[in-house]
Amino acid sequence: MSILKDKNILLGITAGIAAYKSANLVRLFIKAGANVKVVMTPASKEFVTPLTLSTLSKNPVCSTFVGESDANKDDEVWNNHVDLGLWADLFVIAPATANTMAKMANGVCDNILLAVYLSAKCPVYFAPAMDLDMYKHASTKKSFEKLTSYGNKMIPAGTGELASGLVGEGRMAEPEDILSFIEKDILDQLPLQGKRILITAGPTHEAIDPVRFIGNHSSGKMGFEIAKAASNLGAEVILVSGPTHQTLISNLVTVKSVVSAEDMYNEVHKHFKTSDIAILSAAVADYKPTVVATHKIKKKDSTFTIELEKTKDILKSLGEIKKNQFLVGFALETDNELEHAKGKLKSKNLDLIVLNSLQDKGAGFGVSTNKVTFITSANDIIENELKSKTEVAQDLMHLILKQTHA
Ligand code: CTP
Repeated sequence: MSILKDKNILLGITAGIAAYKSANLVRLFIKAGANVKVVMTPASKEFVTPLTLSTLSKNPVCSTFVGESDANKDDEVWNNHVDLGLWADLFVIAPATANTMAKMANGVCDNILLAVYLSAKCPVYFAPAMDLDMYKHASTKKSFEKLTSYGNKMIPAGTGELASGLVGEGRMAEPEDILSFIEKDILDQLPLQGKRILITAGPTHEAIDPVRFIGNHSSGKMGFEIAKAASNLGAEVILVSGPTHQTLISNLVTVKSVVSAEDMYNEVHKHFKTSDIAILSAAVADYKPTVVATHKIKKKDSTFTIELEKTKDILKSLGEIKKNQFLVGFALETDNELEHAKGKLKSKNLDLIVLNSLQDKGAGFGVSTNKVTFITSANDIIENELKSKTEVAQDLMHLILKQTHA
């Protein structure tokens, strides 16, 4: 999943021959899951049509301060540049001609694209495109310097054959390269960029015989939401999950599927040493059958007893070997909740514990909400309202960021 998913991208197009490539850029942004709107300089319409761009972006294209309403061509509507600027999470100007860059650098505002630029509060990227000598000209270099000094990000032009027939620097970066430049730039700024987070989720199944197991009602939703929240902050996530129906597609999350507590223990220990943070939200079985029958157990007597033995406590084992890792556990309690959770925080050598009380309505297994209390190793107790598991996961990640000063 691209980091651009659900982002509002405003694409600005200026009058260069490379404008024909902007149509492809719209397609790539849409494919990445972004919402796209296009603003054009009037002259750029000579190079690519608004119809192409509005069809690809699924939004009206704006190139003048005053537009026509759809209902009645005689009615004029005001294209609000401030609204467009505020709507955008990113403003990408591609191609950016020498003329437009010089105007941007000097605060000139004689078309709607420039008005949007002056009112936009979001990050602005610009991809220059022009002929070799124009690119090298001292005034163009001055524009680059000024624009980057204002905080705008330049997507450098490539080298190759130019529309004039000359060969050299000045070709607009290819749409694929523009996309990956922006994705990388956003990822590089995320607070958990470069961090590895290990997460456990879901139940475990402890086999009784080839067809039966001991399990629990955990859906895995909480752990998957935490994995999503962590990867949205740029972390590389290893998600060790017991059997669930949850899915998550992100190129930052690697899902390792396991079945039993023993499998989960082994998989977690493969990754713990190289992790910066570990969050164990799985509902691991505390006991497993001492012997697993190799054949299906036949029904005989009116009662049937299975001998159980303790599973390994994965969280506790990590607390015993942790070095610099920030270790987070969950506690699911029905009574004396705070006391039990604090006890687990200490006995398992944790930095933070997330307490779920099954007495709270809307908390726990099989629901999409949760009501949790965070308890830190410094004994700070942070109570929360009933929230969606998505929000709980975001709150948890923000608290971890605070605690680890990441
Ligand atoms: N946990 C674990 N391995 C186990 C049991 C639990 O890693 N074999 C982890 C859970 O993922 C959770 C935390 O330990 O983060 C606490 O789990 P919980 O079931 O609340 O507590 P237990 O330690 O199992 O104690 P009890 O069931 O007696 O309350």
